[in-house]
Amino acid sequence: MIYEADMAYFVLANKARSHAYAPYSQFHVGACAVDADGQTALGCNVENASYGATMCAERTAIFAAVAAGLKKITHLYLVADAQTPTFPCGLCRQVLYENNPDMIISMAGCDLNEAVTCTIKDLLPHAFGPDNLI
Ligand code: THU
Repeated sequence: MIYEADMAYFVLANKARSHAYAPYSQFHVGACAVDADGQTALGCNVENASYGATMCAERTAIFAAVAAGLKKITHLYLVADAQTPTFPCGLCRQVLYENNPDMIISMAGCDLNEAVTCTIKDLLPHAFGPDNLI
């Protein structure tokens, strides 16, 4: 089940998924980053023939948000090519934590029937972050 308040953001993430460039994995992922004012920035995965140059949807969304002038992302929505929710990879978890250690993350299957919500601290306990350096 997906809450009505979340659905519009999942729809945006799903639209971004349709823009993914994934000729190698055929695994398309879309993300929608939302700030406290409801401003959004979208991301999709962008693969590369030099595989290590690939960028995930979550990081693309965070970088797009920063470039657009959004500061703290309060909620990130994620939709991938799977019936069940797909969770962010480890590298993305680190980038999400840097943006906002209290970020909420919601993941849905691509049919937008089912969602899971958690915090970045659930996904990256004992994180190394800005507080370790400042
Ligand atoms: N991918 C994402 O976009 N986000 C994740 O959290 C997991 C993986 C992408 C990267 C690559 O283009 C494809 O999915 C397969 O790993």
